[in-house]
Amino acid sequence: MHKIDMDLVEMTLDVMKYAIDRISSSKIKIGKPKKAEELKALVGETITDKGVGGEYAFDLWKKYLSKTNVPVDHPRNLAFVPAAPTRAAVMFDLVTSASSIHGAYWMEGAGGIFCENEAMQWIVSLTGLPKGAFGVFTSGGTAANLSAMVTAREHWRENDIFKGEKGLIITSIGAHSSIKAMAKVIDVDVLLVDTEDVLHGAELKQTIQGLTDHERKRLFAVVATGGTTNAGIIDDLNTIGTICTQENLWFHVDAAYGGGALAANSVRHLFKGIEKADSITIDPHKWMFSPYDCGAVIYRNPELAKKAHSQEGSYLDIFKDEGAHGFNPTDYQIQLTRRVRGLPLWFSLAANGTDKYKEAIERGLELAQIAGRLIEENPIVELVREPSLSCVLYRRIGWEPEDYTHWTYKNHKKGFALVAPTKWRNGNTFETVSRFCFINPDTTEDDINAILKSME
Ligand SMILES: Cc1ncc(COP(=O)(O)O)c(C=O)c1O
Repeated sequence: MHKIDMDLVEMTLDVMKYAIDRISSSKIKIGKPKKAEELKALVGETITDKGVGGEYAFDLWKKYLSKTNVPVDHPRNLAFVPAAPTRAAVMFDLVTSASSIHGAYWMEGAGGIFCENEAMQWIVSLTGLPKGAFGVFTSGGTAANLSAMVTAREHWRENDIFKGEKGLIITSIGAHSSIKAMAKVIDVDVLLVDTEDVLHGAELKQTIQGLTDHERKRLFAVVATGGTTNAGIIDDLNTIGTICTQENLWFHVDAAYGGGALAANSVRHLFKGIEKADSITIDPHKWMFSPYDCGAVIYRNPELAKKAHSQEGSYLDIFKDEGAHGFNPTDYQIQLTRRVRGLPLWFSLAANGTDKYKEAIERGLELAQIAGRLIEENPIVELVREPSLSCVLYRRIGWEPEDYTHWTYKNHKKGFALVAPTKWRNGNTFETVSRFCFINPDTTEDDINAILKSME
């Protein structure tokens, strides 16, 4: 396995050819899932004592398995938060893997971590946080939110009067599910302000005033969203930030999806107040065109994260020695051993320049506006709300929830598009509607028109 022979050389060439074809392809197909039993019947036993051979396994991948994935970078994949890694970033993902870099400590990964930090510097500059603010790349938004929440909770607990208390955070129902999920992980309670629309400082203040004395004592952080996943809504970060300062609360902004739009001049003003944050989540694997997986957490005061996350162990001491001097990403988030997952982003930023990133992000915003116009011009559909960032919610007039489900499956089965329904609150009920989320700059007006036509 670890020796070089002709078979290995041939295998390497085959794999490289596949990668080159995929990276340079402009016509990728939307795959369809199959049940695990069906896949098993197609590929048979693959893990055996003696191995089935690389060539055979790779054939199974090409013939059957790869076809059951839906590429996130297909221009008509507008479901969830899709992605569109740049070709340069994907290429460098191969280099990242081939280089076997341990990305926890500078002593082992100096070159890779240096590159990550160059890319991080650009991301931090978009936030407007003061000098000294910095961040690290994580496996995604969930891990970034968790890392920030742990830092906030540990900082709060430094004060002895809070030591025995169970923490409490406030966010809104528009916040991403990972906030509630990660609150469970760190065993803190979450109070949800009942709005899926913009959360303002006034509502936050009212919520805080409604707390009992004990709840107020337990409250240590507020999480605002910089682009909700469902509808692209940006909370009023400025007034929320002010309240957090007045109330001495940690202010976290989850901009996992929306953070890319900080680079877009046309909407940057909507994030006013983000510079007041104590921590921010931004996912380069969403709107900064990185391959999976690549999230980021940024801190106003990284020393607080270091206090919360730095791991101790006799075999780790050397990495913290003066002689190993440098930035250790593991100190600022939950993971020890880590891939230098910011490296593909660095290469792509270096190769393409930040202007190209701005243009590609502006295109996503423009596509949402185009979709809004096409929906308004089309009598069978109507906007549920104005497009926000790159999200568009719209209804097909006369459709019931199951019509949306059938339509999604039908388009997916045909290999035409993946557009999934969502729910939007309408008074006290939740209405099933259709949702576009644009990331890929290669999506066209014709794509949007064709998708709307398929609703006729
Ligand atoms: C606002 C927001 N926060 C957090 C997440 C979770 O990110 P990840 O899936 O990278 O863990 C998402 C994912 O869509 C998101 O949109």
